[in-house]
Amino acid sequence: MLSKKGAKYFFLIGTLFFGMIFVGLTYDTLKQVPKLTRAENLTPQVIHGKNLFDKNNCMGCHTLLGEGAYYAPELTKVYETKGPDWIKAMLVDPEQVYPGARKMVKYNMSPEDQEAMVAFLKWVSEIDTNGYPAKPVNQ
Ligand code: HEC
Repeated sequence: MLSKKGAKYFFLIGTLFFGMIFVGLTYDTLKQVPKLTRAENLTPQVIHGKNLFDKNNCMGCHTLLGEGAYYAPELTKVYETKGPDWIKAMLVDPEQVYPGARKMVKYNMSPEDQEAMVAFLKWVSEIDTNGYPAKPVNQ
């Protein structure tokens, strides 16, 4: 059995060792973020789209990169799966796209804001999420 002193050193060295591994891995992850997110593509239009996404509380119903609410579909890859015209149609009149379905707010977004929203969702869809979200089995 370890002596009291031995246990103390075991704790201190173990904590320090694994703490350093944790800090190292965190640093490595943060270093990769600009590349994985393609940060160079963050144009003013994309940023405007992100602000619209926040201001209109899209996350109150949707998830993006897994964050948000579970009332409405995940939007991380919606640019790839549904395309820009579908997204714009949803931002003008969702009832036209999904008649009689669950309700999305009718935003009546201006053409400029629609483009910004599409640009933002395109940028999100290009993030290397390491396979997230998994593709639905029957699509
Ligand atoms: C009040 C809840 C709510 C809010 C807020 C909301 N949505 Fe939706 N959204 C929905 C629902 C519900 C659907 C799916 C309709 C259905 O399947 O019946 C949807 C569908 C969509 C779709 C189509 C997804 C697909 O796979 O067909 C897009 C794109 C979309 N929303 C974008 C947005 C954006 C961008 C915002 C913010 C500007 C937003 N939504 C805010 C409820 C919401």
